[in-house]
Amino acid sequence: MTQERKPRRGDLLELEIERFDERGDGLGRAGEYEVELRRAVPGERVRAEVSWRRRNRLGAHVQQRLAASPHAALPRCAHFADCGGCSFQSLSYAAQLAGLHDLVARAFRAQGFGAELEIAPVEGARELYGYRNRMEFTFSNRRWIERGEPEGTPTGFALGLHAPNVHSKVIDVSACPIQPPALDGILATLRAEARARALEPWDQRTHTGLLRHALLRSSRATGEILVDLVTSRDAPEEVEPYAAALLARHPEITTLVQNVNTRPAQTAQGERERVLHGPGFIVERLLGLEFAISANSFFQTNSAQAERLFELVRAEAGTSGSELVFDLYCGTGTIALVLAAQAGEVLGFELAPSSVADARANAARNRIGNVRFVEGDVLASLGALELKPDVCVVDPPRAGLHPKLLPALAALAPRRIVYVSCNPVSGARDARALAALGYRTARVRPIDLFPHTPHVESVFALERER
Ligand SMILES: C[S@@+](CC[C@H](N)C(=O)[O-])C[C@H]1O[C@@H](n2cnc3c(N)ncnc32)[C@H](O)[C@@H]1O
Repeated sequence: MTQERKPRRGDLLELEIERFDERGDGLGRAGEYEVELRRAVPGERVRAEVSWRRRNRLGAHVQQRLAASPHAALPRCAHFADCGGCSFQSLSYAAQLAGLHDLVARAFRAQGFGAELEIAPVEGARELYGYRNRMEFTFSNRRWIERGEPEGTPTGFALGLHAPNVHSKVIDVSACPIQPPALDGILATLRAEARARALEPWDQRTHTGLLRHALLRSSRATGEILVDLVTSRDAPEEVEPYAAALLARHPEITTLVQNVNTRPAQTAQGERERVLHGPGFIVERLLGLEFAISANSFFQTNSAQAERLFELVRAEAGTSGSELVFDLYCGTGTIALVLAAQAGEVLGFELAPSSVADARANAARNRIGNVRFVEGDVLASLGALELKPDVCVVDPPRAGLHPKLLPALAALAPRRIVYVSCNPVSGARDARALAALGYRTARVRPIDLFPHTPHVESVFALERER
């Protein structure tokens, strides 16, 4: 029997993409190897060149597209070929939802869950474009030259999004179809006025230049718009006329703030904030509640689907009006406030002081008196409390629950835990650990808050067995 040699860098393969992984890469098979390919979608047939091999995995890049996917869709974005923000615009929405369902099902199966656990179909979004209520654009003096752009295109100024894996360069984004169309005009004016005034964009290598980011936020319910100019210094003599020109062209901007970030780190959160126009926040409404959102507040980026997500949480919590509910990792308190009307009392636990301040302000704004927010590490805060909740909601960051929180949660012995997971892998791992501690889950309900991306949220309730 002849032994076939192992594939190596530079080899050519022909294969069909079968599914996508949690990073949005296409996956296909070549014999015993699973092959990862960037920018390839399920159903597509490609010729690809191997770039690496690790055990039974290969990485490859597409050389030629041999046959289009039967699930292909026309991307709406002019920057789709270069910007990696929403990798699935070229895949039909039905195929996106099927792929997300597969990701969730695989994650739970890998933790030993079988057919007894129902993975409900992914609840899709109704708005596939214009849904994002927060976009952070970057100013740069190193513009990424896109495919098809003529030679000699000036590279000294860009306002847009980073090219995938090339953090030193920025695509000059003319319009972004996942944000509401009104924000495209503001983006264009930000660019035109900055250039007309010769305001210097930030240079990431030398840490010089004035303009660093433009953060745009909008409210679906009220139509209010917030613009946050992030600069490297105060420079009122340059920033104020720039802001005034923007407001004159766009009276729809209801508030404009400046964040000053003097540090090298590329973050939109400044050390200080100055309100240049309006109240400094916008108001969004979800499920009849009002939320004030300032430049640096955390808020779900898809308001319409966030409303559906919170409805799912409310349904799974199934409270009747008298219960003590804990909302762990509560952020700005949205879930706690949504559940308050059907609970005796809700306690929210959150580490970030600014989120706790927002949560308290939102409770006061909605005149909700039966919620309290505890600031600090959730594990330490729970240890210092004597109370035993009837229902616990957990909405942890991507890494999932802290391992020490699992026994602490079981010791609190709520009759039900409602898990809101933004990462099926950590969510499924925690569901298995909670099963070992006596909590059973029967159904996982995934929901898409980020069309055209591989991110998926899931909600599942775990019932105490004894
Ligand atoms: C997915 S977000 C929750 C969002 C929240 N449900 C909302 O709608 O606003 C996770 C939150 O966990 C918080 N967090 C992370 N580690 C924490 C810890 N050790 N203790 C308490 N909160 C923590 C983060 O600051 C973040 O606000």
